[in-house]
Amino acid sequence: MSRSRGEAPLPPCYAMVHQGLEPVAAEEIEHDLDGEVKRVGRGVVVFRVKNIDESLLQLRTTEDVFLYAWGTDQLTHRAEDLDKIERWTARDADWGRLLQLHHAIRPKPKGRPTYRLVTQMEGQHGYLRRDARYALAKGMAGKLPASWKPAEEHAAVEIWLTIDGATAVCGLRLSDRTMRHRTYKLEHRPASLRPTLAAAMVRLAEIKPSHVVLDPMCGAGTLLAEHLALMRAGRASFPPALGGDVDAGAVRAASVNLRRLAPVALTRWDAARLPLASRTVDRIVSNPPFGKQLGEPEEIGPLYGRMLREYDRVLKPGGRAVLLVGDPAKLRAAAHAVGWKSPRQVTVRILGQAATITVWRKE
Ligand SMILES: C[S@@+](CC[C@H](N)C(=O)[O-])C[C@H]1O[C@@H](n2cnc3c(N)ncnc32)[C@H](O)[C@@H]1O
Repeated sequence: MSRSRGEAPLPPCYAMVHQGLEPVAAEEIEHDLDGEVKRVGRGVVVFRVKNIDESLLQLRTTEDVFLYAWGTDQLTHRAEDLDKIERWTARDADWGRLLQLHHAIRPKPKGRPTYRLVTQMEGQHGYLRRDARYALAKGMAGKLPASWKPAEEHAAVEIWLTIDGATAVCGLRLSDRTMRHRTYKLEHRPASLRPTLAAAMVRLAEIKPSHVVLDPMCGAGTLLAEHLALMRAGRASFPPALGGDVDAGAVRAASVNLRRLAPVALTRWDAARLPLASRTVDRIVSNPPFGKQLGEPEEIGPLYGRMLREYDRVLKPGGRAVLLVGDPAKLRAAAHAVGWKSPRQVTVRILGQAATITVWRKE
């Protein structure tokens, strides 16, 4: 919905983002939605767009997207915050307008609509999450039609309050679970990537429709799925993607997950001995084992060495590789040995551990 003359200005939006991906999500919002990023905090990007419509739901590096009701970075961590949460919820947001914008994207279901209040809280506070939820509920009193029923599952409208240290943001959720989980992921494998993280890696690879894209350790195929979904959205024709894994079960899982997206050539192989001609691949996107959940720590350095010699052989000059690793120093040693340069690194957290998305260019 865009603004017509005489109408109130559109409210800001915000996206919840996997920790570390904030700059990549901000770039996607600016580039793909022509959005104006107003603020980037831990796990949150606040932005404005000229149109609030379904294009917001096409974002791929964000976990969820919301209409912004209010936000602060001035919480005191003391119980007095609760009065402020109630007051800001009751006074600072035009809930009628937010609901109208919400319904334009997610039409009201037939029958009595349902709603849900969601409160998330990180950090030490002198009150409990349930106290914050109660303050939110008090602030929302009379803001929703009296006929609406609360529901814990599949509510038509969700109002979220997210508190992280001194920061809080509150809004109306526009996305549903398919934004973060996608619909293609039918088969799961150990250490399979979060789709939003895979989408960020694909973005960082700067793939063009003409490019041949390879994931030599594809697991359940999340990176190739994100690449193919992006190519399909662009509607240009593109060559089949290439993928494989040393584990036959992973190759099967990837073929199930990718089947409905586009043709992909999947092979059981050793990534250090690829059955591919030299200098035929434009982009490699991959996350090799970290040596924790999969593999052993002492195997990682030698594996990276063998892997990068082979990736260097198949990559065209000027090609790029985007690799997610737990130990970037070991990868750097292997990359320098083949003469690759790194224009960018993005640090993220995966299951509480630091990991690094590394971007490499073959000169
Ligand atoms: C972290 S998982 C990849 C997860 C994948 N990106 C996904 O989202 O499902 C690493 C994968 O590397 C594979 N792998 C390990 N060593 C390999 C090798 N030498 N050649 C090919 N694949 C290998 C493992 O079988 C595993 O599926």
